[in-house]
Amino acid sequence: MTDYKNPKHIVITGATGEIGGALALEYAAPSVRLTLTGRNEARLREISELCRKKGAEVSFKIIDVHDTELLRCWIRDLMAQDPADLLISGAGQNTQIGEDLSMEPYGDAVSLVKTNLLANLALIDAAVPEMRRRKSGQIAIIASLAAYYGLVYTPTYCATKAALKSYGTSLRTLLDPEGVGVSVIFPGYVDSPMCRAMPGPKPFLMKADRAARIIRKGLSKNRARISFPFPLNLGIWFLSIFPYWLANPLARIFGYGRNGR
Ligand SMILES: NC(=O)c1ccc[n+]([C@@H]2O[C@H](COP(=O)([O-])OP(=O)(O)OC[C@H]3O[C@@H](n4cnc5c(N)ncnc54)[C@H](OP(=O)(O)O)[C@@H]3O)[C@@H](O)[C@H]2O)c1
Repeated sequence: MTDYKNPKHIVITGATGEIGGALALEYAAPSVRLTLTGRNEARLREISELCRKKGAEVSFKIIDVHDTELLRCWIRDLMAQDPADLLISGAGQNTQIGEDLSMEPYGDAVSLVKTNLLANLALIDAAVPEMRRRKSGQIAIIASLAAYYGLVYTPTYCATKAALKSYGTSLRTLLDPEGVGVSVIFPGYVDSPMCRAMPGPKPFLMKADRAARIIRKGLSKNRARISFPFPLNLGIWFLSIFPYWLANPLARIFGYGRNGR
């Protein structure tokens, strides 16, 4: 049975990022094992050391999630040897339309689909069989509130996050009755390099440590969806259910119009 309140072994992809790093630090404690991944070795070492100082046992692995074969082999081996109680899939990237309203660079859009979508599928697909066999484990997929409405600046980012929303919801229905939790996380704006690089307004911007606390609380309750902050969540949820002729002008009023930058 999954102990959602006290996961003992937590695996985090994107642990070198603001949110992933904040989550590692949030969970770091004596009697907790953390397995962290990312590409930036210096940052991996740094965050590992900080987590060790909080008493956690930490190991890390450098992986480019575009290498889905390596990613799958690694998580399969890990699950066989030291199964994750909680797998947080947090690696992500962004791209955007041009200042001149040109389309996103196609190569960047393809790379983004690999990072934000295909890598998640590869990782989770390889981790699930062992969780199912053990009837225990939890998967946290970091999507975004951008999953709810296609924002003009970031078409491919929004598309991948919408796909994760559906994928996670499907898996939740499939796996929850077998004792395997699946939660999709929908942050609003969290201060990070990726967020800073994004054009457009960033209402209710929050720090990563606060986001990590909210995520942990939601995961401890095995919530299907963890969305925050509330006002932004409510606003984008309305955009998602309103007809386009109403949603589009409303989005423009809040600075998400074609010429709103
Ligand atoms: N910040 C926000 O406002 C916000 C809002 C909603 C959702 N999110 C989501 O939250 C997640 C974390 O974002 P963040 O804000 O913490 O951004 P961040 O600080 O820029 O971190 C991005 C993370 O993704 C990793 N990554 C990117 N491409 C990778 C690749 N090919 N292989 C392996 N790792 C890769 C980076 O690893 P390296 O640096 O080691 O390459 C880094 O750990 C993302 O999925 C993002 O979409 C963020």
